Amino acid sequence: MASYDVIVIGAGPGGYVCAIRCAQLGLKTAVVEGRETLGGTCLNVGCIPSKALLHASHSLHEAQHNFEKMGLKVATPKVDWKQMLAYKQDVIDGNTKGIEFLFKKNKIDWIKGWATIPAAGKVQVGEDTHEARNIIIASGSEPASLPGVEVDEKTVVTSTGALELGKIPKSMVVIGAGVIGLELGSVYARLGAEVTVVEFLDVITPGMDGEVQKTFQRILKKQGLNFVMGAAVQKTEVSKGKAKVTYKLTKKDTEHEIEADTVLVATGRKPYTAGLGLDKLGIEMTQRGQIKVGADWQTNVPGIYAIGDVIEGPMLAHKAEDEGMAAAEQVAGKHGHVNYGVIPGVIYTTPEVANVGATEESLKTEGRAYKVGKFMFMGNGRAKANFAGDGFVKILADKETDRILGAHIIGPAAGELIHEICVAMEFGASAEDLALTCHAHPTYSEAVREAALACGDGPIHS
Ligand code: FAD
Ligand code: NAI
Repeated sequence: MASYDVIVIGAGPGGYVCAIRCAQLGLKTAVVEGRETLGGTCLNVGCIPSKALLHASHSLHEAQHNFEKMGLKVATPKVDWKQMLAYKQDVIDGNTKGIEFLFKKNKIDWIKGWATIPAAGKVQVGEDTHEARNIIIASGSEPASLPGVEVDEKTVVTSTGALELGKIPKSMVVIGAGVIGLELGSVYARLGAEVTVVEFLDVITPGMDGEVQKTFQRILKKQGLNFVMGAAVQKTEVSKGKAKVTYKLTKKDTEHEIEADTVLVATGRKPYTAGLGLDKLGIEMTQRGQIKVGADWQTNVPGIYAIGDVIEGPMLAHKAEDEGMAAAEQVAGKHGHVNYGVIPGVIYTTPEVANVGATEESLKTEGRAYKVGKFMFMGNGRAKANFAGDGFVKILADKETDRILGAHIIGPAAGELIHEICVAMEFGASAEDLALTCHAHPTYSEAVREAALACGDGPIHS
C-alpha cells in the first residue's frame, strides 16, 4: 500500500495528461490502468490507429487517382493488408511506449489493474488499497450498443474490431453517419470495399453546419460511398460469416434488407464507469450515465474529480486533455480553466472537415445577428495545384461587432487551418483582425484570410 497526493484512474488522453501535469506541479502521483498499455482508447483503439489507416488508404487513393495526372508513372500499388496492420501496430506501440517514457521521466507510478473506489481517499486495485488525497476518474467511454444488433467483433464490429479485420471486406454496411462511421467507412471504401452507410437522420454528422453536411455528403458519394438516409436499423443477423442488416425507412414505414461481409456499428459511445463503485459512494450521475462535476471538475464527493469522456461534453481527446490539465491545476490549488466555447472538432477524411464555435443554425436559434464570410478552395492556388479544390472556409462573425463566433472548413488540411481561428477566438478577435494579417502565398491558410475578407469588403480571388 502506498500513499499519494493524486491517483488518476485511467491512462487515456485525459488521465495521462492530468498525471503528467500533477507531477509537474510537484504532486506525488500514480495512475491506475487496467489495459496492458497506456494511452487509453485514443492511442490503442481510437484516434491514432484510425489515423494510421486513413493515412495509408489515402496514400493508395493518391497513387490510384492523382499520380498519373502529375506524370508519375508507377504500377498501381497492391495492398498488403497484413503489412498495413503491422504499420498501424508500430504507430500504436511507438505512441503508447512514449507515454511510458513520460511517466518514468515525471516519476509517475503506473499501478497495473482495474481500480475500485471503496471510499473517498482510497483506491483499491486487486488486493492492494492505496491512499490518495485526491482521486481523478478518467475512465473514458465504450461503444454504445444498439438493440437487435449483436457485436461479435468479427462480422458485426465496433470501431475496435474494424481496426483489425482479418481481411478487407468486399462489402461493408456502416450503421451511423457520424465521425467513426465516415472515417472508417472512407478507409474501407478506398481499400476497395463497397460501403453503404445507413443513417437514422436525414443528414450526416448531426450537429455540424448544414452547408458542410451537404457538401461533405456530396464529396463522399463521389468517392463511392453509398448512403441510406432516414433509416432505423432493426436488427442484424449473421450466417456463414455474412451479415444481413434489416432497417426501416422511417418516412415510408417500409422494411428493407442489405447484406454485407462486415457491419460496423458506429452509433455513438457511452461513458465507462463499470466496477468503480460509484453507486456505493453516492456519486451523482447525469441521466446519460455521465459523472456530474462542478466547475472545478469535482464530483459531489469532496476529493473525487472526473474528466474526459466520462463527463459531459464532446467525446474528444483534446477536450479530455484540456480537462486533465485544468483539473490538475485545481488539485494543486491553482486555477484550471477550459474554454468550452473554443473546442475544435475535426473529421480526418479527405477532404478534412473542421469546425469550432457556433453554427449558423445555433446562431439562428439564439436569435443573434451574424454575417457569413465564405471562400471556396477553388480560388486557392495551392489547393488547385494539389487536386484539393473541393470545399470551402466559412467564418461566422457578429453582425455589429465583427467578433468571430465560429468557423466551418471542409477542404485540404482543415484540421490544421481551424487552429488559426481558435487562437483568434481565444483573443476575442474580429474577422477584420484575421483579414488584416499577412498570410504567406501560396498556402491553404490564404483561404482562411479570404473568408475573413468576405466578412468585410469581400475576398480578392472570387
Ligand atoms: P479513454 O481514452 O477511453 O481512456 C480511459 C482509460 O481508462 C482506458 O484505457 C481504460 O482501460 C481505463 N479504465 C477504465 N476504467 C478503469 C478502472 N476502473 N481501472 C483502471 N483503468 C480503467 N478523439 C479525437 O479528439 N480525435 C480523433 O481523431 C479521435 N478518433 C477516434 C477514433 C475512434 C475509432 C474512437 C473510438 C475514438 C476516437 N476519438 C477521437 C475519441 C477519443 O478516443 C476519446 O475522446 C478519448 O480517448 C477520451 O479520453 P479519456 O481519457 O476520457 O478516456
Ligand atoms: P456519433 O455520435 O458521431 O455518430 C453516431 C451516428 O449514428 C449519428 O449520425 C446518429 O444519428 C446515428 N445513429 C444513431 N442511432 C442509429 C440507428 N439506430 N440507426 C442508424 N443510425 C443511427 O458517434 P460515433 O461516430 O460512434 O463516434 C463516437 C464518438 O467518438 C464521437 O462522439 C466522436 O466525438 C468520437 N470520435 C471522434 C473522432 C474525431 O475527432 N475525428 C473520430 C472518431 C470518433
